[in-house]
Amino acid sequence: MRTIILKPEKSTYEFCASLISDGSLVAFPTETVYGLGANAYSDEAVKNIFAVKNRPCDNPLIVHLAGKDDIMLAAREITPTAEKLIKEFMPGPLTVVVKKNPKISPFATGELNTAGVRIPSNPVAREFIKACGVPVAAPSANASTRPSPTEARHVYDDLNGKIPAIIDGGKCEIGIEFTVVDVTGDIPVILRPGKVSAEDIRRVCGDVMTGGGEEKPKSPGVKYRHYSPGCPCKLLRYGDIEYIRETAQKYAAQGNKVTVICYDDTAARLMGINTVSLGKDNYSAAANLFGALRRAEKEADIIFLEKPREQHLQEALLNRMLKACGGDKA
Ligand code: TXA
Ligand code: MG
Repeated sequence: MRTIILKPEKSTYEFCASLISDGSLVAFPTETVYGLGANAYSDEAVKNIFAVKNRPCDNPLIVHLAGKDDIMLAAREITPTAEKLIKEFMPGPLTVVVKKNPKISPFATGELNTAGVRIPSNPVAREFIKACGVPVAAPSANASTRPSPTEARHVYDDLNGKIPAIIDGGKCEIGIEFTVVDVTGDIPVILRPGKVSAEDIRRVCGDVMTGGGEEKPKSPGVKYRHYSPGCPCKLLRYGDIEYIRETAQKYAAQGNKVTVICYDDTAARLMGINTVSLGKDNYSAAANLFGALRRAEKEADIIFLEKPREQHLQEALLNRMLKACGGDKA
């Protein structure tokens, strides 16, 4: 199969909607990462996603909608907690887990009776989903375990020859995935940290809980290896220039090609060491992280990642970085 990359325009939306209604897959941009979409009502189409990505089939997919009016296309019941969060944050950086509409394929939700639902704010995503006329089930459009794709090129690198089309909407603005919150009960439970923080949710709902626990994760995806580059990757203390330099030099002296992924001000003080930039703050770090991992792995034998600074997005960034390093502990 040839994979074509298409510009976001009317004829593209029409063509890609026809692919979706034929049961094919289309990769599309969102404000977080690129998604790999299929008709969420079709068992066959959804099964295709798991095959192409090599994704474990008990890891449920997020169901994407074009707008709030469509929420019942994916949900069976909306609790008052869900309603508050939908009103405040959608379209925007949040996925809510709700009781699912029975038309959603059980293969999309890992046979759970809930579905993660999100309305992207990215206009290309919404035009595409609107043209499809059905909810679009989509995980991130990377091969399973690889860093999530934040540019059309990243999708192409992982899935060329396996899917018919990629809609190229440029670089994703946010760059890390959304917050996932279970709102099937009275108190919202954060299953995956993201741009909307626990504080944001508490402000709207009055209460919030974090984590589904490692033993029996409520969000099955959190138990799998994720975001891994093709070489070992280790975290280093934020802003500790001497320590970062010494560590990089120690590994280089052992004959390793070393790349340090760090903030601009750190990079400026690491003369002579190969660096890839996270930009100046946590917003740019989120937008650059997955692309930086993909760039660094091309050359490096080992990657060092500077930990995120204390600022908005710190927890979400640290979560992705720990996973890139193959663990959940610092
Ligand atoms: O920003 C995003 O969320 C991107 C874009 C493409 O929308 N999508 C994404 O999908 O990151 P994925 O498959 O990489 O992550 C989905 C996460 C997984 O951790 C999964 O376990 C959780 O959402 N999830 C989905 N449906 C769920 C459900 N019904 N109950 C609990 N967790 C669910
Ligand atoms: Mg993913």
